[in-house]
Amino acid sequence: MSEGAPALRKPASAVSKPARLGILLSGRGSNFLAIAESIRTGRLKGVEIAVVISNVADAPGLAKAREMGLPTAVFESKGRKREEHDAEVTACLRAHAVDLVCLAGYMRLLSPQFVAAFPHRILNIHPSLLPAFPGLEAQEQAFNYGVKIAGCTVHFVDEELDHGAIVVQRAIPVLETDDEHSLAQRILAEEHLAYTEAIARVVSGEYEVRGRRYVKKDALRK
Ligand code: GRF
Repeated sequence: MSEGAPALRKPASAVSKPARLGILLSGRGSNFLAIAESIRTGRLKGVEIAVVISNVADAPGLAKAREMGLPTAVFESKGRKREEHDAEVTACLRAHAVDLVCLAGYMRLLSPQFVAAFPHRILNIHPSLLPAFPGLEAQEQAFNYGVKIAGCTVHFVDEELDHGAIVVQRAIPVLETDDEHSLAQRILAEEHLAYTEAIARVVSGEYEVRGRRYVKKDALRK
């Protein structure tokens, strides 16, 4: 993430066009559905879903997107070279004039070319308080480690796994009564809130990325 990276766009006004989201998912799609619900209910303003893309043809989240009448696309990734697959996905995102890419349970690493195609325009959600517990089964990792505070992170995507500048984190206590499943459930509820909050922050344009730090504009003025 470069020093002083520009914000996504100017604050949305009544006349400005909605920011167009490209959602990438591989599975059940509960984060996608939470984003869609936030748009529907007006919690997330100045935003529309341009396309939902999956690398898994039978992903339940993709089926839900179709039921909702959203534009969808499938680019199966199994056995494909990462760069070739990513080139098709980025072409599709461009064809749908996507402003902001939201990884929502997209179980595939992005090539450097993909990251460079949408500089500071790709968000990911991860079910831990990064930099703790990157990678798979983050909730189980956190539970087994014995942490007392767990949570989730929405961050910009860079070339490294679960690594880019953090936009939003939400924390919860680990309860004595928790097991890894109940903890994952309670983290997921926070994820659904965190993603909406992060998208709202990014499309507001009221920020700068300084090094690793997402800095709100009002803090910049001080
Ligand atoms: C979430 O836990 C997210 O943090 C992780 O993958 C899971 C996707 O869940 N990256 P869903 O498909 O959004 O329900």
